[in-house]
Amino acid sequence: MTMPSSTHVAGAAPGRYAVIGNPVAHSRSPRIHAMFGEQTGIPVDYGLLPAPLDGFEASVREFFASGGRGLNVTVPFKQEAWTLAGPRLSERARLAGAVNTLWQDDGALRGCNTDGVGLVADLRRLGVELNGARILMAGAGGAARGVLQPLAQAGCARIHIVNRTAEKAHALATEWLRATGAASPAVSAGGLEEAHKGGPWEVVINATSSSLGDAPPALPAGLYADGALAYDMMYGAQPTPFMRQARDDGAAATADGLGMLVGQAAESFFIWHGVRPDAEPVLAALRRELATAAPR
Ligand code: ATR
Repeated sequence: MTMPSSTHVAGAAPGRYAVIGNPVAHSRSPRIHAMFGEQTGIPVDYGLLPAPLDGFEASVREFFASGGRGLNVTVPFKQEAWTLAGPRLSERARLAGAVNTLWQDDGALRGCNTDGVGLVADLRRLGVELNGARILMAGAGGAARGVLQPLAQAGCARIHIVNRTAEKAHALATEWLRATGAASPAVSAGGLEEAHKGGPWEVVINATSSSLGDAPPALPAGLYADGALAYDMMYGAQPTPFMRQARDDGAAATADGLGMLVGQAAESFFIWHGVRPDAEPVLAALRRELATAAPR
């Protein structure tokens, strides 16, 4: 991947960065990047960039034309960003079908997807050995697709994708095979009720948005191998419904996706500034803030 070298000059005005989305007011990215900036000594001006639903491209062009240096992209624009950065995508972004990080190189827009790298970094932080791991992934939407390549690159032996709409899981697995031609990891697919096929699993990842409805995905019992981790890409002040379901089903450990959020931000920071911040203290601070902001 081509990345800009860090162009920070002591005393110079901080480079301008933002997260673009609709809605975007809730985003924690400005807070995370401000903490990374403090930690690394790189002054960062990182704000919110709300864009009208029909005005994503114009907002992006305007941002870079007025001196902006980098954008994170969130709902619902990640696919549009992928199209926009079309010919200049990282391999990760190409396979993810979505872009969450934009920057310019020689005046041309470039795109990467750091979500999957953020997940892999967080799984490693949690002590998971991904090399040879057998993984169950619930969900076959953009979130699931975005993490396949980094999981494969980390050496997973098997990924079984299950989804409420089984055809979408099959389509994702087929598309993955067609795009990569890779025999490893072995990628299979099915409906949620087929989640135990080939299990038990060392890692079960919830990439569905079921938590938004305050319910876990309808997974069968008996999914977890000894010592297995259940990981929800969603996060909250309390354990998510999926995490509670996993505990009941015998998962040894559970985690929510706050670490993935910080991990993807750290990778974007690295792309933009050439310095990889330490995610751990930032994650700890966010966790404290989350607990204080939403006591239940
Ligand atoms: P994202 O970008 O977050 O992946 P998405 O592309 O809309 O969003 O995909 C949402 C995923 O969550 C899908 O896999 C969806 O299943 P369907 O394909 O059957 O719609 C899944 N999902 C949403 N609500 C769910 C629920 N209550 N139970 C199980 N899966 C659910």
